[in-house]
Amino acid sequence: MAMRKFHTAQAVTPRSGLEPERQRDRALIGGSLELRRAHGQSTGVSGQFVLDPVFFPEHEDRLRAFCDPADPRPLVVEIGFQMGRFATDYCLLNPGTRFVGFEVRKSYCEEANARFEKFGVQNALLALVDAREMLPRVLQPGTLDALFVFFPDPWWKKRHMKKRMISPEFAADAARWLRPGGHLLLKTDVPDYATWAEAELRREPAFEVERLADPGAGLPPTLRERRCALRNQPTYAVIARRREDPK
Ligand SMILES: C[S@@+](CC[C@H](N)C(=O)[O-])C[C@H]1O[C@@H](n2cnc3c(N)ncnc32)[C@H](O)[C@@H]1O
Repeated sequence: MAMRKFHTAQAVTPRSGLEPERQRDRALIGGSLELRRAHGQSTGVSGQFVLDPVFFPEHEDRLRAFCDPADPRPLVVEIGFQMGRFATDYCLLNPGTRFVGFEVRKSYCEEANARFEKFGVQNALLALVDAREMLPRVLQPGTLDALFVFFPDPWWKKRHMKKRMISPEFAADAARWLRPGGHLLLKTDVPDYATWAEAELRREPAFEVERLADPGAGLPPTLRERRCALRNQPTYAVIARRREDPK
């Protein structure tokens, strides 16, 4: 399969002249949460597992309560769960774990919700919001056991690089959210993305980074992963473990 050119020229560097908040907002999907809360309209998303924390501050509170570090159950987050294929399998295999999924598309939230209902998932919440803006608001530092980023959009072009999920800011945030010994797991089918992301994650001193020999990482496959397997297309997995004692 012909692969599009993946830009790796330089690490994502913030545009000079913009204050940090504006720099961050430029990379977010839908723009700043505060502006949407003030001027936007509710998405109307529905489902017993689904939260719409941009428009309902009480949904943000529910998310924060679910992530409360006083709860002894492990806490894992998946960014970009799409139709919830992996999320459902993972939750059923790990009923004693708290699972929070983030998606930016309403239809995917509703499809994943239907799947959770069909299979009787009990230990999860799904949030319709850009994970990068909600996680800092609801997570206490050092409390996350695992962060899954599976087959993120590659954002091939140089001018779109700032939208990639993996960035120096995201790596620093993830290192802060994860407990010592916790990990960020990235899977992708774009070999250059794997190489680029691995290098970006290695720049974060709190992480010990490794390319996994088993690209499945011993987890249930995602929808994209199943499709790759059907086409005999290779996939890649990079794990960034939060050091017990960051340098
Ligand atoms: C290429 S799909 C991968 C889907 C799935 N993880 C899989 O492996 O089959 C990427 C998904 O991430 C979602 N997404 C992209 N940016 C996101 C963000 N900032 N927060 C939450 N979800 C996001 C997209 O809507 C899309 O469903």
